[in-house]
Amino acid sequence: MHYGGDYNPEQWPESVWPQDVARMREAGVTMVSLGIFSWSRIQPAEGEFDFAWLDRVIDLLHEGGIAVDLATATASPPPWMHEHYPDVLPVTAQGVMLGPGSRQHYAPSSPTYRRLAGDLVAALAQRYVDHPAVVMWHVNNEYGCHVHEDHSENAQRAFREWLERRYGTVDALNEAWGTAFWSQRYTGFGQVRTPAAAPYSHNPGQLLDFKRFTSDMLLECYLMEKEILLEAGAKQPITTNFMGAFKPANYRQWVAHLDVVTDDCYPDPNDAESFRDAAFQRDLVRSLKPHVPWLLMEQASNALNWRPSNAPKAPGQMEALSWQAVGRGADGVLFFQWRQSRAGAEKFHSAMLPHAGTDTRTWREVVRLGRDLATLPELPAGQAGARVALVFDWEAWWAIESPDHPHNGIDYLAIIQRWYRALHRAHVAVDIVGPDQVHDRYQLAFAPLLYLLTDSGAQALTSFVDGGGHLVAGPFTDVVDARDQFRDGGYLTQLRDTLGVTVEDFGALVSPGGGPGESEARASGACGDFTGGFLAEEVHAGGADVVAEFTTGRRHGDAALTRNVHGAGVGWYLATVPDEAGVDTLVRHFLDDAGVAPVLGGVPAHVDVSTRGDVVTLINFGSAAVTVDVQGQDLLADAPVTSVTLAPFGVAVVRRQR
Ligand code: GAL
Repeated sequence: MHYGGDYNPEQWPESVWPQDVARMREAGVTMVSLGIFSWSRIQPAEGEFDFAWLDRVIDLLHEGGIAVDLATATASPPPWMHEHYPDVLPVTAQGVMLGPGSRQHYAPSSPTYRRLAGDLVAALAQRYVDHPAVVMWHVNNEYGCHVHEDHSENAQRAFREWLERRYGTVDALNEAWGTAFWSQRYTGFGQVRTPAAAPYSHNPGQLLDFKRFTSDMLLECYLMEKEILLEAGAKQPITTNFMGAFKPANYRQWVAHLDVVTDDCYPDPNDAESFRDAAFQRDLVRSLKPHVPWLLMEQASNALNWRPSNAPKAPGQMEALSWQAVGRGADGVLFFQWRQSRAGAEKFHSAMLPHAGTDTRTWREVVRLGRDLATLPELPAGQAGARVALVFDWEAWWAIESPDHPHNGIDYLAIIQRWYRALHRAHVAVDIVGPDQVHDRYQLAFAPLLYLLTDSGAQALTSFVDGGGHLVAGPFTDVVDARDQFRDGGYLTQLRDTLGVTVEDFGALVSPGGGPGESEARASGACGDFTGGFLAEEVHAGGADVVAEFTTGRRHGDAALTRNVHGAGVGWYLATVPDEAGVDTLVRHFLDDAGVAPVLGGVPAHVDVSTRGDVVTLINFGSAAVTVDVQGQDLLADAPVTSVTLAPFGVAVVRRQR
């Protein structure tokens, strides 16, 4: 179990470093991420490296028994780079060049940036690849977190090359993008540009490919660095830190190239329900690389600096959120950052060692957590044994949030998280997977808003139901193919037989307060009553049973929820986007119908329950104490229990008796 944080010793005089190491030992720190923003310190000029200071820091940490997750330091280029090579800077869709003075001011596709970053990584690797303190390589930092897309001339060239590799001929590109529309037909790749500012809507195929390209450019940067590390003989695990459900980077494609998934997570302490979205994020990163424990690479010990208002965490809240990560498969808890900065944009951001010193609640909590984590026995790897899959797909996300749809206000992630929160309140273990990963390990799979459905995804969902799985699909699902084009034969072409319905119209509703027209559609049936928004589709049940009908508005009396017995399984189709209460009602019904049991029964909704092999973690995120029956060995108290009482933010980690 690793414990620690980002360590930025270059911000401090050398006399502070030994105190840092002593304090780290006091806090139970086992590993720090070193050098993430040290480029200008390590390389004051092109071709000139200063490693002496870094040698001393690494040796000092090593003598103190602190392992090093060594960063490649390529996340924030030094000032000499743009001085000599201004073309490395990224450009927004509006044509604004993003200048230096902050961080991440580089175009991922810039050959100059890549060459100079590569030089730095090669020099670092050569020097430290065999250093016994270095146990992991931290490539770059949060790829794309600020620069979500780039329209520089480097990007123009790289986009054309990427398209040429993907399509081979310009005719194939024309076909994929449907450029017969609006006179967009290209006669050479040289005519194609990124979808930057334009008079009106862009070609949806182009938008989708630009998202793919952007994710690929960032991944290429990672792979370039990884290759250099491996060539230098790196034996340590290599990683880069993720940001959960981060739209610009399709982490599901990246993950094969990471030895260990590491993730940064910053729930808002002001939001009493943010722990559920944090749980979603943990389950997502756990599901990205099952069987391999992941690391919580960054979180805050207390307040942040970057929200409009940065509330402190409540007493115990940081520890509760840390245990949530461990319960959901993390083998390490680390922070941004070790010592609070005294200058710079993040000087108000909390740290393990606060600016106010060690006589602080933050420090006491940090020390207590370090001690508690150290007492844990080895935990089983990150499997939750989930029987429920929630489909969350980057390509569907990109495509559904393209403009010019029946309803243009759909926030894909927010709706997926709405379903997750209902499953979380029901204390059911959930894997968050791509459509291709839905298979017979699961009993029940949810595929809401799977607007873009690939052939292989459709095949996986179909055989899942054929083989006995229960699939909940819709609305606005199976609408387009991987090019964002309609398939022949209407909508729902791939899942029609499985679901036993056809979709004639999407029936857009207005957003609440969004002007005249219906903004919600109520429905009622054997599953209970629920209210939907965004869409009230016109669905015709072929072989499927109508389980709920719309009771209001223009769809009054029509199918709102259908159930189709197909093969050995069941295909549900939902014709609207249920609100939070509606999702709760429906989730209960689907779980019952599929026979899925909670991890633990009789637990209040605000208690977070997770499993990790035979270990169950219970965390009280409510404001009153609760007692929960659970039998086994309490690993923190090292005592057998038949029930645990949890104060607000109280935690129990229990190895259950078989
Ligand atoms: C992360 C970043 C860190 C630090 C932190 C502050 O996005 O990786 O360097 O800026 O946010 O919350």
